[in-house]
Amino acid sequence: MKQNADVKKQQTVQPDVLLEVKDLKTYFYMPSGAVVKAVDGVNFTVKKGSVLGIIGESGSGKSVTSRSIMRIVDEPGKIVGGEINFKNRNLLKLSEKEMSRIRGSQISLIFQDPTTSFNPYMTIGEQLIEAYLVHKKASKEEIKQRCIEVLKMVGISNHEEIMKKYPCEFSAGFRQRIFIAMSMIFKPDLLIADEPTTSLGITIQAEIIEALIDVKKEAGNSVIIITHDFGVVSQFSDDIFVMYAGRCVESSPKKKLLLYPRHPYTVGLIRSVPLLEARKTKRLKSIKGFPPDMVNLPKGCAFSPRCEFVQPKCLEEQPMLREIEEGRMVACHYPLMDYRTSDDTTLE
Ligand SMILES: Nc1ncnc2c1ncn2[C@@H]1O[C@H](COP(=O)(O)OP(=O)(O)OP(=O)(O)O)[C@@H](O)[C@H]1O
Ligand SMILES: [Mg+2]
Repeated sequence: MKQNADVKKQQTVQPDVLLEVKDLKTYFYMPSGAVVKAVDGVNFTVKKGSVLGIIGESGSGKSVTSRSIMRIVDEPGKIVGGEINFKNRNLLKLSEKEMSRIRGSQISLIFQDPTTSFNPYMTIGEQLIEAYLVHKKASKEEIKQRCIEVLKMVGISNHEEIMKKYPCEFSAGFRQRIFIAMSMIFKPDLLIADEPTTSLGITIQAEIIEALIDVKKEAGNSVIIITHDFGVVSQFSDDIFVMYAGRCVESSPKKKLLLYPRHPYTVGLIRSVPLLEARKTKRLKSIKGFPPDMVNLPKGCAFSPRCEFVQPKCLEEQPMLREIEEGRMVACHYPLMDYRTSDDTTLE
């Protein structure tokens, strides 16, 4: 009962909320009869004009969450419960026709691998025009103007030349920038970037994040950035949502989460990446153990086999997500209330 009250508290509809995901459940029904609860009761909100970072290890359910929002979950997956309220409409109640109008125009999804995002046989210009005409009738000149605008947003100025070329003529990083531009053609309210830098080198990753920041600044849209890299979320997000085994283990405004992580898993993730200036001299550690087997999750807390603070209760009882401070939710029986990642008080 306590948990329900806490979750309700987090979900109270506010006028500045663009997206509210409530108790989302997306399960995969495997031919063997096993059920993989890839997303199992996830709750979060994205405020208008803000950036939410979703972080978690491979297999934690980040992509299934983003694909559920777009309603493009692969077989044998099914959204079996919850609500996805976008601009006060539950997307799960819309017809496929209504949903296809929202996809690409009001919510855009950028994938991890920029090579698969384009048709290799069409020029960039042809693809931008095609993307435009899916949703709107317009003259060639209007479309061209909008394409120039969005290419500029991601720092591409030689648009005439770019539009005549084929995707293979560009590097993966450049293609990803063009794809971000293409995703912005209709000024979507929400841009979901699912590990947009993972397949790219370090310098290119920084370029892509910069392009996303520039686009957001100019268009003022909301962004969900999905990653397993704390470096990416720490640069770009306002709020952070940490996923483990299909559930939220911690959600919080960024600064607080980075300085005072409350969940042992968040602590592990932060320790495993170079993050704040003050941590430069500290040794980095990876989280011990392996991500859980999604078909056979432990009885209590899914993180318990890897947790250095595990207690008997953790092996028996699944911790529910609860509010421990204003705006901060944690699913842990024993949150780390005194832990700090840095002694540097200027980071407060
Ligand atoms: N097509 C599928 N068929 C069966 N199970 C799937 C399928 N797609 C995802 N899953 C299950 O859902 C879980 C979550 O997958 P998801 O792709 O959301 O992980 P992720 O957090 O995005 O990981 P990564 O960082 O590797 O992209 C996986 O562990 C897997 O068990
Ligand atoms: Mg993924």
